[in-house]
Amino acid sequence: MLGETLGYLITESDGIYVDGTLGGGGHAEAICERLSGNGTLIGIDADADAIHEAGNRLRRFERSIHLVNDNTAHIAHILRARNISTIHGLLLDLGVSSFQLDEASKGFSFRGDDRLDMRMDRRQPLDAFGVVNGYDEAELADVIFHYGEERASRRIARRIVERRSEAPIETTGQLAAIVQSVAGGKFAVKSMARVFQAIRIEVNDELHRLQAILSDVLPFIAPGGRIVVISYHSLEDRIVKTFFNECAAEFIPSGNKFQPDTPRVPELKVLTKRPVEAADEEQRNNSRSRSAKLRAAERTAH
Ligand SMILES: C[S@@+](CC[C@H](N)C(=O)[O-])C[C@H]1O[C@@H](n2cnc3c(N)ncnc32)[C@H](O)[C@@H]1O
Repeated sequence: MLGETLGYLITESDGIYVDGTLGGGGHAEAICERLSGNGTLIGIDADADAIHEAGNRLRRFERSIHLVNDNTAHIAHILRARNISTIHGLLLDLGVSSFQLDEASKGFSFRGDDRLDMRMDRRQPLDAFGVVNGYDEAELADVIFHYGEERASRRIARRIVERRSEAPIETTGQLAAIVQSVAGGKFAVKSMARVFQAIRIEVNDELHRLQAILSDVLPFIAPGGRIVVISYHSLEDRIVKTFFNECAAEFIPSGNKFQPDTPRVPELKVLTKRPVEAADEEQRNNSRSRSAKLRAAERTAH
């Protein structure tokens, strides 16, 4: 989807762009290649290793990029601190990178047996160990149900609490075995993926931060500038879709048939009525792209 992403994002080769999920710098590199010598890219990632990795990859563009190790939820502060009042585009390619999943010390994957961590940003105190061993049964069940959409959430939460009363649950392998002991059989892998996704979302507060990024970046986007978001599960996609639709609405519904709707001035125009998905060939070659959904919106003149 690289071509579509750049096509939606870049409208001004001299512009200022933000890659709010820098990762290994693949998108950032392609953006820099499209910008003129006067264009600027601000690359943000919560993970210091991603900043290091991308820094090496982007060394040849050194003069036109700024790399920032922070959460993109702090976008307003990050831009103001650099005296930037207007940007021409924001890209978010959400979730974790394959590098993070493969890196044992980050403790994201249910396929290994590593210390439960899952923090994108090692400076934050809450990690997966803290969630799994510190939340009470009802809180755990809610996290697994709301962020993992796992139907066996209550039974899994109960089993976690039983097991940790004997000894703390230290590793991804121990957690995976607990999930399997409740939701085994042919759906075990799906259940493990859902539970690990839920805990990762909680640890990194991903959904609240996505909401904060979208609302806080809006005043910085120049008229005609774009927001492009690639999401990988329905919870993220719903937030993006709802935000775009609310900002593009021409009326606020009164909710009462005797009262007229209130007109409003839209701040965004939605460019993707339906989310863009990866082409068949990309889906065949890259399993992650199978769940990717791209949405784009353009800032209006208001
Ligand atoms: C899927 S990867 C991005 C890959 C990147 N587009 C590339 O081409 O290499 C997502 C990255 O965004 C980072 N990330 C996710 N949410 C973030 C947030 N709210 N603030 C800062 N970084 C975030 C993760 O640490 C991860 O490195």
